[in-house]
Amino acid sequence: MIMGRRTWESFPEKFRPLPGRTNIVLTSDAPAHDRLRAAGAQPASSLEQALELAERAAGSEEIWIIGGGKVYAETLHLIDTAIITVLDLNLDGDTRAPELGAQFTRSLSDPAELAHLQDQHRVPFRILATNEGLDQVKESLAALKKSPEGLFIIGYMLFPLLALVVAVLGFFLVLGGHRIFGVILLLVPTQLFIFGAYWAITNRKRLMAE
Ligand SMILES: NC(=O)c1ccc[n+]([C@@H]2O[C@H](COP(=O)([O-])OP(=O)(O)OC[C@H]3O[C@@H](n4cnc5c(N)ncnc54)[C@H](OP(=O)(O)O)[C@@H]3O)[C@@H](O)[C@H]2O)c1
Repeated sequence: MIMGRRTWESFPEKFRPLPGRTNIVLTSDAPAHDRLRAAGAQPASSLEQALELAERAAGSEEIWIIGGGKVYAETLHLIDTAIITVLDLNLDGDTRAPELGAQFTRSLSDPAELAHLQDQHRVPFRILATNEGLDQVKESLAALKKSPEGLFIIGYMLFPLLALVVAVLGFFLVLGGHRIFGVILLLVPTQLFIFGAYWAITNRKRLMAE
């Protein structure tokens, strides 16, 4: 994955490097290279160097250019596929991507025109793709559609609520003299619901990170 220094800096520190990918960062600022390396990026002083690093990286059969405006403009002649996320929002913005020329033909719109998915922040979006190389996009979209909303409800609402209800019931059973039943309720289903909530929350986090 190749990006400009400003794009790298636009990610909150805790989200960089973007996981599971080689983060190659273009900068002409040589003294910044050590800092970038320490932060988990691979610095490159030129586009040629960035492409060399990308070709040597694991998974090099697919190289993604992820912006920003300056780097998109510099690399437009190199790419064979453009994947565009369209947000259904009106924003002023301060950076522009270059226009795609006639060599790019639309080959995917998911969902179809005028419909949108929502990301975890409820921002409506749609993915457009051109030309080839769509398998990975389709996989990513399929993963997104298995949205972690269900895990959110299970992890933060349903299981904690069930754990609480069962724990309260167990507590009253103990108070009412049914010690064994009460203790069993407190120990077994309550713990299972707590463990289930933990499982749902960690899985949701993993899905969102992916
Ligand atoms: N919507 C999107 O798809 C998307 C994607 C990515 C980013 N963005 C946004 O775009 C903005 C950043 O875009 P931008 O155009 O301002 O900056 P950028 O393209 O991210 O980075 C530009 C910087 O990259 C370095 N660079 C670029 N080409 C180079 C080359 N050939 N050799 C050496 N260094 C090179 C230079 O860093 P030095 O100045 O250090 O030399 C340059 O100042 C951010 O606001 C970001 O959030 C949007």
